Amino acid sequence: MYDPIAWLYDPWSASVIEDVSFYVEEALAAGGGVVELGVGTGRIAIPTALAGAYVIGIDSSAGMLAVCSERAREAGVGERLDLRLGDLRRPPVDERVPIVTCPFRSYLHLRGDDERLEALRAARELLRPGGRLVFDVFTPSREDIEETHGRWIEREPGIDERADWDLAAQTLTLSVRGLQGSSTMTLWWVEPARWHTLLAESGFEVLECYGWFDRRPFAGGEDSVWIARRK
Ligand SMILES: C[S@@+](CC[C@H](N)C(=O)[O-])C[C@H]1O[C@@H](n2cnc3c(N)ncnc32)[C@H](O)[C@@H]1O
Repeated sequence: MYDPIAWLYDPWSASVIEDVSFYVEEALAAGGGVVELGVGTGRIAIPTALAGAYVIGIDSSAGMLAVCSERAREAGVGERLDLRLGDLRRPPVDERVPIVTCPFRSYLHLRGDDERLEALRAARELLRPGGRLVFDVFTPSREDIEETHGRWIEREPGIDERADWDLAAQTLTLSVRGLQGSSTMTLWWVEPARWHTLLAESGFEVLECYGWFDRRPFAGGEDSVWIARRK
């Protein structure tokens, strides 16, 4: 799903910058290696490595990892970024780290609670006792659904995006097209209360649930940013 848009991904997400310093801060505060699940093209991982952290990046798209590898080399952090092809539900990682991250809604590619639990338990296994899982997800608002449903919208110059929402199934079918490629992918959302329960069921204690990357408390908006500690 991401291979055909590996070279479109960075221009497509060019305006998404609000989360970078948040994840870099969390990585530095943890003071050790980071595992980033769904590392993509390194949008977060490369600034994190530039700040001095060692990052193991997991992704199931060889195309995204190829772009990430090139970007890391250009940034001069190839040595601090260890990229591994694999599924975030069964990450190919033997190391144990103080922090695992899953930025930019990558967990929404998981379908159903079985997959969510499998992924959360796998993340827990990578953590040292007391280590932290940090991730963000969204739950769409009715206004966003009404505003965007079924319409092609120019997201960046020459890059169009279309959202097809299914409220009953709680799925977003997201299409993107541009000169460098096109793709359609499905995202499955659940309410924040459900994430809370899933985290508890998979052996985490929720430390924080923010409503945005500036650390304002979650107050019922679309985005939720989670920090959970391995029990
Ligand atoms: C929205 S992108 C996020 C990329 C990066 N973390 C960022 O913040 O820009 C989602 C990434 O998750 C990867 N992905 C989706 N499902 C996955 C899975 N089951 N296992 C590993 N990677 C997965 C995709 O290939 C893609 O690179």
